[in-house]
Amino acid sequence: MNDITLDMDIDIVRSFGYRIIDMIVSELSDPSVRSTRPPKQSDEILSALYDGPLPLEGEDPDELLSTIQNHLIPATTNLLHPRWMAYVLAGSLPLAGLTGALVSTLNLGPYDPANTRLTMTITRWFGEMLGFAKDAAGYITTGGSWANLVGLAVARVRRAGWDVRIDGVAGHPPLVAYVSEEGHSCLDKAMELLGMGRNQLRKISVGSDYRILIDELEEAIEADLAAGSQPFCLIGNAGTVNTGAVDPLDALAEIASRHQLWFHVDGAYGVFAALVPESQPLFVGIEKADSLAVDPHKWLNIPIEAGCILVRDWADLTDTFSLVPPYLRASSGNSEVNLMECGIELTRSNRELKIWIALRQYGTKRYAQLIANHLALTRQLASWVEEADDFEVMSKPSLSICCFRFVPPDLTSETEEAEAYLNELNQAIEMALAENGQALVSGTVLHGRRVLRACIVNHRVTQAGVDQTLQLLREFGHKLDKQLRV
Ligand SMILES: Cc1ncc(COP(=O)(O)O)c(C=O)c1O
Repeated sequence: MNDITLDMDIDIVRSFGYRIIDMIVSELSDPSVRSTRPPKQSDEILSALYDGPLPLEGEDPDELLSTIQNHLIPATTNLLHPRWMAYVLAGSLPLAGLTGALVSTLNLGPYDPANTRLTMTITRWFGEMLGFAKDAAGYITTGGSWANLVGLAVARVRRAGWDVRIDGVAGHPPLVAYVSEEGHSCLDKAMELLGMGRNQLRKISVGSDYRILIDELEEAIEADLAAGSQPFCLIGNAGTVNTGAVDPLDALAEIASRHQLWFHVDGAYGVFAALVPESQPLFVGIEKADSLAVDPHKWLNIPIEAGCILVRDWADLTDTFSLVPPYLRASSGNSEVNLMECGIELTRSNRELKIWIALRQYGTKRYAQLIANHLALTRQLASWVEEADDFEVMSKPSLSICCFRFVPPDLTSETEEAEAYLNELNQAIEMALAENGQALVSGTVLHGRRVLRACIVNHRVTQAGVDQTLQLLREFGHKLDKQLRV
């Protein structure tokens, strides 16, 4: 019988690897060449990539790589672009990215002692650098959505008061959680997935600064207790996705403690600003959180997927997830932690190495400088907008998000009709910039008004890039106003 393996000639592997490096270097040498958004895919591209029959015979690796280079990459969104200021997406780091090839080609396992120790090291570092805990436990996730899901899963186990893993939630008082109306939609999804239902996530109003209203929160908890529901978790925002608002975490910690609620903080976007001394007062209270969701693939610019949930004790994770059937090994060699018992997945990719190398390569001081610079750029952007006669600030930055809108200088009316027109105009401006591809901001709705939203977490954003983007928005604003106003 002939042995069959899928191994390749080692020289072909080497030349393939070098070609990939060349492709990466060519993109990195000027990340602004490709537009932010991919052009519409031509028929030629569609047929090269997707329309072929099921491959029966193997194809030449060289040609496959050419297809990726010529057809696939040009059809992707350019997240490396230096004028990318949309959503909460960052720019990736070359060395951390290249470890991805090592991880997947060598199939570096997630559960061996080496990687377990990496996880323990990273979570300890995050806990310390964010002022959460000196010796935090935690788990590396795909991103912030997953980290928040794990946080709420732990909260449910810790605060239900019955064995929720065995019995579920049926037949018990509804478990209720609280967050401001500016909380991220992944929290709604987490409530759905954990069987508690979205209706049990109370959305508390925010003030003009987009921070949770404490009085309304207290009233909501009292009303739920009176109605026989069971409040179990209070969620604080350490940087909302819309405006970057940081809730008064210290006050929330006190309320959580008074009502024996689990205090979870969603710091996916904003919490790394705690590295900058001048921002630290915003995050006072984080040291009292029971769990903290952070997202290194945002402000730390670590390649996508890199999220993390921090807790105070490994038992928070194992009591929530440990389930070891006879066909799995319960021990993890010489480490006291067995990651297999700390999360939802069994087989998973190693997401730790890229985080570890980035933290070692740059150190917290360099990151603090980067983030301080982003905070300063955003403040400058806000004052430019404030001084302009054709723009209006819609949310003052507390971190690195500024929302604003274009308002034609001669549009003085404040009627509903004028507001509707401004919504239409600003949405058209956002789309025109996306179409143009030389910069990108995103949009959102604040108090019913469509606004432009710049969020600076991408390490390639510069002062010149912000200026160019504002000029483009101004040009589109005036041009579209001429076309759209009746
Ligand atoms: C505040 C906040 N929480 C959670 C998330 C979800 O994170 P991810 O996209 O990594 O799943 C985001 C994403 O922007 C966010 O801004």
